Amino acid sequence: MKILIADNAGFCFGVKRAVKMAYDQVNNGDDFKTYAYGELIHNPQVVKDLENKGIKTIEHIDELDENSKILIRTHGIPEKIYEELKKKKVEIIDMTCPFVKRVQKIVNGYYKKGYSIVIIGDRNHPEVVGVNGWCNNSAYVIQSIDDVNSLPFLDKACVVAQTTITQKMWEDILALLRLKAKELISYNTICDATNKRQSSAEKISKEVDMMIVIGGKNSSNTQKLKKICEKNCDKTIQIENADEIDLIILKDVETVGITAGASTPDYLIQEVVDKITSGRKGE
Ligand code: F3S
Repeated sequence: MKILIADNAGFCFGVKRAVKMAYDQVNNGDDFKTYAYGELIHNPQVVKDLENKGIKTIEHIDELDENSKILIRTHGIPEKIYEELKKKKVEIIDMTCPFVKRVQKIVNGYYKKGYSIVIIGDRNHPEVVGVNGWCNNSAYVIQSIDDVNSLPFLDKACVVAQTTITQKMWEDILALLRLKAKELISYNTICDATNKRQSSAEKISKEVDMMIVIGGKNSSNTQKLKKICEKNCDKTIQIENADEIDLIILKDVETVGITAGASTPDYLIQEVVDKITSGRKGE
């Protein structure tokens, strides 16, 4: 059986940077308690490993002790939470991806200039919740074409994208938004890593009999990869790790493609490849 691994599969720049910063905290030998504000990345194995090494995940900042450190994940946080953390005098280790920071800055700048803010993305995703927190939670969050229809007519608006949406979603919604605002300033803030990962997944999903998408079940970029692959390959599955593959489903498969979400470490991809190749040897 032939195995094709998509280019740009797995950890993106922002996640790589954040995971390194988190492990640096584990290894720096100081006595501060270190917490993560929400799951650091959408990968249960990495989150568990960090917890085992002493980084506890908390959901509310009132769970913080004095003299502790707090890690801010790649998705970023609302402005208000920053201020509250500063008041608490805890040390903030800010791992917000620089590309997400840029979106926060754009939104904050145009909000202060009196523009309505529109975010195309998933309103419950932590990145969107964070970005919305830089315009006092005033953004119109658009998840679908229906949402555009229910928008009021806007005088001047600035639109940005959640970094992980598809290019198609951006283009389709932007075209309609142009009819809904007198002045529309648009920033396509889709991350390049996302674009590249999606187009490589699309490319190989056209060439294989089966696609395996590796990534956390709650990872939005992984779910989008799965959707893209499903369009070209009926036999597309999403797994979090090699244990979830039942080798029976690979029977009669001649070429299998593998891609992985932005929070999937290389070793998990390798374990999947190893399982498939060793399973085949045992036949
Ligand atoms: Fe950052 Fe793009 Fe990754 S926004 S966290 S580099 S997907």
